[in-house]
Amino acid sequence: MPVTAASSPRADSAPAPFSGFVPEAGGASGLDAAELARFERDGWVGSYPLLTPRGVDEVGAMRNTVMRSLTKPADIARATASDAFVQKPWFKSMHACVPECFDIARHPAIVDRVKSILGPDVIAWGVTITRSAPGGVHRWHVDHEHHRWHGVSVYLGLAGSDLDSALKLITGSHRMPENPQMYGVKDDAAALAAVREEILTAEMVRVPIAPGEFFLFAGRAWHGSHNTGSKLRLSMILQYSRPDVRVQIPLNFNEPIHWHPSRPPCVLVAGQDHHGRNRLVERPGAMP
Ligand SMILES: [Fe+2]
Repeated sequence: MPVTAASSPRADSAPAPFSGFVPEAGGASGLDAAELARFERDGWVGSYPLLTPRGVDEVGAMRNTVMRSLTKPADIARATASDAFVQKPWFKSMHACVPECFDIARHPAIVDRVKSILGPDVIAWGVTITRSAPGGVHRWHVDHEHHRWHGVSVYLGLAGSDLDSALKLITGSHRMPENPQMYGVKDDAAALAAVREEILTAEMVRVPIAPGEFFLFAGRAWHGSHNTGSKLRLSMILQYSRPDVRVQIPLNFNEPIHWHPSRPPCVLVAGQDHHGRNRLVERPGAMP
């Protein structure tokens, strides 16, 4: 029997649904033909409204509390024990620990658009909140997970995603055969030059985004950031795939990647899971 994404009844003790969504976020019906064509050509599309200012504040304020109970990127290489992520979940498993993150990951404004790209059956496997201090650099990369399996990422702005700190993307780079690390790119010019060897029309774009808005980008799009502004940048990254992939946790950041054998928690956000390859979880209770 396939598992379906129909919502299960909420127990009386369950935390209240997250109420920080803007009314206009609810009426999504997926990407239209022009948006889908843009996504396929450029590797990204957006932006769209999702959270109210109060919703943005609530999500931003929870980050430090949540991260204390998760295995952070800096600690991931030591998380080799078989139960490491039972003791301290992966930093990308916020959907399984925080009811508000679960609710955001399932919101139709996001899910209906992701379905336009991935098809009717979709799991959310990664939700995290990232921060970039002024001066912070995130090198050009493709997330190792999406290099290993196909998927779509969502960037939800929470604070400081201005023109001088926003995520950078190279249009068309999702069609590159390899990730930027394999080309040894060290800066924007080298990254763009490497992509233009294959994709003549490639451009580097920054995607400034207002707090509470989101855009979608292809899992294999080359991206990075350099916060040259004076403000902290805070964003939520949500990652989706079809249920037939096998989701795993990368334990390091440079090739060759080592993968933890456990099955991290995933949420079936649309359709059915006919494959049973991943560990599906329901909405979590309130954080202690
Ligand atoms: Fe990334």
